Amino acid sequence: MFSKRKRKTFCYALIASVFVVVFKWQTGITTTEKDNERKHLVLVPRVSNNITETTQCLPNKAYINQSSNLPKIYENFLEYKHCRTFRALLKPKGCTEELFLLLVIKSTAPNIDRRTTIRNTWGKEGVINGVEVKLVFLLGVTERFRGQPLHQLLTIENTQFGDIIQWDFQDSFFNLTLKEIHFLRWFAADCYSAKFILKGDDDVFVNTINVIEYVKDFSPDHDLLAGHIIYNASPKRNKKVKYFIPDIMYENKPYPPYAGGGGYVMSRRTVLQLYQTATDVDLFPIDDVFVGMCLLRLGIIPISHIGFKTFGIHDVFMFDPCFYKDLIVVHKLNPAEMWIMWSLVNDTNFKCAKKG
Ligand SMILES: *[C@@H]1O[C@H](CO)[C@@H](O)[C@H](O)[C@H]1NC(C)=O
Ligand SMILES: *[C@@H]1O[C@H](CO)[C@@H](O)[C@H](O)[C@H]1NC(C)=O
Ligand SMILES: *[C@@H]1O[C@H](CO)[C@@H](O)[C@H](O)[C@H]1NC(C)=O
Repeated sequence: MFSKRKRKTFCYALIASVFVVVFKWQTGITTTEKDNERKHLVLVPRVSNNITETTQCLPNKAYINQSSNLPKIYENFLEYKHCRTFRALLKPKGCTEELFLLLVIKSTAPNIDRRTTIRNTWGKEGVINGVEVKLVFLLGVTERFRGQPLHQLLTIENTQFGDIIQWDFQDSFFNLTLKEIHFLRWFAADCYSAKFILKGDDDVFVNTINVIEYVKDFSPDHDLLAGHIIYNASPKRNKKVKYFIPDIMYENKPYPPYAGGGGYVMSRRTVLQLYQTATDVDLFPIDDVFVGMCLLRLGIIPISHIGFKTFGIHDVFMFDPCFYKDLIVVHKLNPAEMWIMWSLVNDTNFKCAKKG
């Protein structure tokens, strides 16, 4: 049926595609990437997907005597902090080469109302202001919610939206740093085409257009971390407060500068650098501070920007859309408030009076 020449061409094409497949398999990288992406071959070692620790990570008994006077969860944290690799239970759709902004939101299984709101308002995927935007939610495991198992529901949610990445560790406040390092590993392996990353909680309002406008002035291959930067915070030594940190976890000196975890933006390069450094830094129960510790090691100086309001804002501003128009991230909005804000901020006919 084929002419001799056609058959010959076909054979060459077949051989060529075998080579492509072998190359992809060996490097874990697609051949279509442009030169600037090639840098990551050097920056990112191939991320191993061989997960061996998960099933048999035993407690580290060395901490038993030192932590016996601490609250139980601190004891638990210290005994298990060397267990840093858990398998992925759910994975999102892949990242495209053109991806400009990746929105990465820490969520938990029961917060489906917040995820639904984000997907439909400021976290909408697609082309926004001429650039591609993608959304992913980071989850651990919540065994049961009001007695009901949640895993099947999440699987359905992910089949529909393809924006959930879930790992096999308990979703608790003290495991947020675990979420951080798993995110970094996933990014380095599967999503490093993204140029910029916004990381936030599922109760923040993000003015996505402002984020895009802000990061456009930077190069994805230079370091950038901008947010609400907290300087000279000291560890809390009162056992009764939420952020209590005992001496055994952190000495008597202030934390390095760190970005409030409600929301901050980073360049791809900074995320990849964090990935490489985080593997050498001991887990610390406060994830924002953990990132600050990594930044200090890397010599990356975070940029403080007034558009990030990660401690929430005064009530009088609550429903003034003009206030939100100038902001990048605002913390602590419930789903109803997010919808209202979005409809106002997104309304192009709405004109704010020029500030004097
Ligand atoms: C803990 O302290 C007890 C009594 O002081 C000692 O016998 C034991 O070896 C210690 N255990 C560890 C793991 O250090
Ligand atoms: C973190 O997750 C692991 C694995 O599910 C669990 O064993 C551990 O108790 C959790 N740690 C904290 C402090 O919640
Ligand atoms: C936001 O603006 C876009 C484009 O103008 C429009 O398609 C969309 O319906 C708006 N969304 C809301 C919630 O107002």
